[in-house]
Amino acid sequence: CGIVAYIGQREAYPVVIKGLKRLEYRGYDSAGVALYGKEGLQVYKKKGKVAELEDFVAGKDVNAHIGIGHTRWATHGEPSDRNSHPHRSQDGKLAMVHNGIIENYMQLKQELINQGHTFSSDTDTEVLVHFIGEIKNSNGYSTEEAVRVALKRVVGAYVIVIIDEDDPGTLVAARKGSPLVIGVGKGEHFLASDASPIVEYTKEVVYVNDYEIAIIRKDELILKNIANEIQSPYIQKLDIELAAIEKGGYDHFMVKEIFEQPQTIYDSLRGRLDAKKGTLTMGGIREYASLLKEARRIIIVACGTSWHAGLIAEYIIEELCRIPVEVEYASEFRYRNPVVGKGDVIIAVSQSGETADTLVAMESAKEKGAIILGVCNVVGSSIARLSHAGAYTHAGPEIGVASTKAFTAQLAVLTLIALKVAEEKGSITQQRFQYLLDELDSISEKVAATLKLDDQVKRIAHKYKDARDFLFLGRGYNFPIALEGALKLKEISYIHAEGYPAAEMKHGPIALVDENLPVVFVATRDSNYEKIVSNIQEIKARKGKVIAIVTEGDTSIRSMADDLIEVPAADELVAPIISVIPLQLLAYHIGVAKGFDVDKPRNLAKSVTVE
Ligand code: G6P
Repeated sequence: CGIVAYIGQREAYPVVIKGLKRLEYRGYDSAGVALYGKEGLQVYKKKGKVAELEDFVAGKDVNAHIGIGHTRWATHGEPSDRNSHPHRSQDGKLAMVHNGIIENYMQLKQELINQGHTFSSDTDTEVLVHFIGEIKNSNGYSTEEAVRVALKRVVGAYVIVIIDEDDPGTLVAARKGSPLVIGVGKGEHFLASDASPIVEYTKEVVYVNDYEIAIIRKDELILKNIANEIQSPYIQKLDIELAAIEKGGYDHFMVKEIFEQPQTIYDSLRGRLDAKKGTLTMGGIREYASLLKEARRIIIVACGTSWHAGLIAEYIIEELCRIPVEVEYASEFRYRNPVVGKGDVIIAVSQSGETADTLVAMESAKEKGAIILGVCNVVGSSIARLSHAGAYTHAGPEIGVASTKAFTAQLAVLTLIALKVAEEKGSITQQRFQYLLDELDSISEKVAATLKLDDQVKRIAHKYKDARDFLFLGRGYNFPIALEGALKLKEISYIHAEGYPAAEMKHGPIALVDENLPVVFVATRDSNYEKIVSNIQEIKARKGKVIAIVTEGDTSIRSMADDLIEVPAADELVAPIISVIPLQLLAYHIGVAKGFDVDKPRNLAKSVTVE
């Protein structure tokens, strides 16, 4: 879900609509705007895409220089016109958009009902705007004061932006837990959930911190904390270009981002790795490298694709650094009272840097005395700011909901961290260290070579696109790649897919194998190679269809596979960066062949800022 708001000289409506479209990639199911113009405060909202909202608004009065907009990803209440944002206060004077969840909304709602409020939606948002309106009216407060008082009672995560009919030259915004960026222009301000709706207008931005309230007029930006103390806004320069968030000739963002990987992987290594000199510098974790090498344990917390990157990092760190590593789903870790404290290092891996579960998991580990490192893609994101130290992945904005280039950049950066710690610790030989630096140094070229297989993968995609289920199998470093391949396919093509360790397949999934089941083997040459060849035979013996990703020149698997995809050879530690590429392409082409919206798959959100 996403928020956009504008105040200034321009027409607000087109700015807000364009901004909502820029945020579409985050995933949503309804959209709405509120504008203050000649006819007072108008709210238009609709279930469905932003384009449907535009059709609905066509012909209505949208002249205004202040506006707020929202795309909603349903949490409380089904996607519908009435549950869409903005919501209004009881007297109709406030219109508000909200991202996040108000956990104690039931209690607040009951209190308001007792005071005579009636509600026209099932949302927690409407409860909050009524609550703010009630405080404002019964105390004669300004909206800003009412927001401050209300938020002291609110439990949960939120970004809110409010227009007040009584003060139509001011936007009031507040944040806790969900992101909010303010773009500072000349005589105008832009607000959004991330920088993408803002970059075409201004590069100067302020990231609002938790528990801050922003009072925004066209030529004034006041930030206050919840104790009503003025904070000085820290203006940062955005380093993204408009081109980075546009499709640039590709049919979809997803395929653009898949094809960007030679560059993005290179960018993630740049300035850090110097294979010729045999040196590795990780500026972001400099002071922490020695703490890391003495860590009694490393715990990687993440969700989704980032969790898969964490699984591979577990294998790499244990191999190179001999430090025990655990990889946890952030959502499980935060609620299961884990044993964590001093001496533990948490590595939070996140593309967006805003995933609510990951954020809270790191907060609780931090309170217990653990050191927190962040591996994030979005500069200035909440996770980046909450970490003691960290390393950005530098993959550039990722718009496709299914993560691709962020994943390979995470792998590259996590490998660099492992190598750095191993070097400090002396747990790696000089020779192996140099060899792995060289392997990383050539990885971008190998990824570029792998992308040349696109046509072949597309043909395979067409051959199997109507399968009902898919199995993805791998061992060792390639096991998490099997999980990732299955996840990509599920996300984009809605085909049921499971990833499994190839050997574990005998303990269940093998029951699914028949002549209709495509089984994708990630079987590049590594220390598990002989074993996985046996697993392929087990599938073949049961007439499963075998699609095998193998190392160039492999001849043993050729006779067993129905389809063979040959990728460049690489050391097994870095091979996942290559072997995931054909799986990304496979999911993409199947999704497109089935006619689905691959950039915005149903029900998914890019950045899950609710738990
Ligand atoms: C969502 C996205 C996934 C992503 C996951 C974790 O589910 O759709 O692509 O892997 O969140 O997101 P993060 O931004 O923390 O990496």
